[in-house]
Amino acid sequence: MTERFLRNCWYVAALDHEVARMRTLRRLILNEPVVFYRTTEGTPVALEDRCCHRQAPLSKGIVKGDDIECPYHGMRYGPNGKCVRVPGQEAIPDGARVRSYPVIERYKWIWIWMGDPERADPGLIEDFHWRDDPGWQSKGELLPLKANYRLLVENLCDLTHVPFVHPTSLNETMIDCNDEVPVKTAREGRAVRVDRWEFDVPAPSYFRAMAGMSREDRVDRWLNLVYTPPSFVRLDIGAAPAGRGAADGDRSSYPTTRNLNAITPETATSTHYFWANAINFSLEDASLMEIDFRLVHGAFLEDIDIIEAQQQNMEAGSWTRLNIAGDAGGVQAIRILDEAIAAEQG
Ligand code: FES
Ligand SMILES: [Fe+2]
Repeated sequence: MTERFLRNCWYVAALDHEVARMRTLRRLILNEPVVFYRTTEGTPVALEDRCCHRQAPLSKGIVKGDDIECPYHGMRYGPNGKCVRVPGQEAIPDGARVRSYPVIERYKWIWIWMGDPERADPGLIEDFHWRDDPGWQSKGELLPLKANYRLLVENLCDLTHVPFVHPTSLNETMIDCNDEVPVKTAREGRAVRVDRWEFDVPAPSYFRAMAGMSREDRVDRWLNLVYTPPSFVRLDIGAAPAGRGAADGDRSSYPTTRNLNAITPETATSTHYFWANAINFSLEDASLMEIDFRLVHGAFLEDIDIIEAQQQNMEAGSWTRLNIAGDAGGVQAIRILDEAIAAEQG
């Protein structure tokens, strides 16, 4: 069965610095070839990377002014996808155009709308302000994943894998998932929330090392996770002095790390995994952001390893899925995604 993707939504297509003025970037998104470049003004452009003449990739061509020239017979296209020049003839044939996709640069990412361009409302871009908010420092990257994007959504919504996949990298430093702490999973409209609170416990090693807490400090610590479709997962992990009511009040002044995941399907079996971490403490010390980034980067390579192995097994032979208690968040997320796709495609 060919994979059906949600189309009328914004996806992250590239890191901002990947899209350059004279250098083209080709990327498959939802199985469609897209070429990115910037106009003379620096505005990002996204066009179908497939010439309407004989299907050569425009990304192998040259950016000229605001236009891009096909490498095969030199047909030239403007940022709106319309052909503006056909070598050797005056007239531009009807229908000489490639698809142009709405794009927006925001939060250090280039966002693309793969559905009906009329519906591409920039107000629908998911909130990732921690990426460029002066009250935070942040660092991210793009990781390639050779697996279906749904497996990664499920992975991020599930805390029970942490002690097994990340026994040293995350467990007991950042996330600490011992079985006794209850996790509450709830659906709120088109979002899934997974909340985990621990009260009056020793300050975790991550916050001792990163945010100046000491071994004697008692804290209330939280891990709150929100999924929104198609494939965004944002985690809020922090610790506040015990007994100050952090669970009910404003937590913005307490040391917090935000783990921000924007997952974009490349094909049915491969994924562009954009993620970043942001911290609201030690803003003057970039080396702490680097340590945090390296920690999570290493952990995500552990996730990628198991997810790619899952994908290979899923492509071999037949199988069924069994759900256990820890799947609650992931199962609800995938249900919301399926509902959104069904609503869009009828
Ligand atoms: S394939 Fe592009 S001009 Fe011929
Ligand atoms: Fe993980």
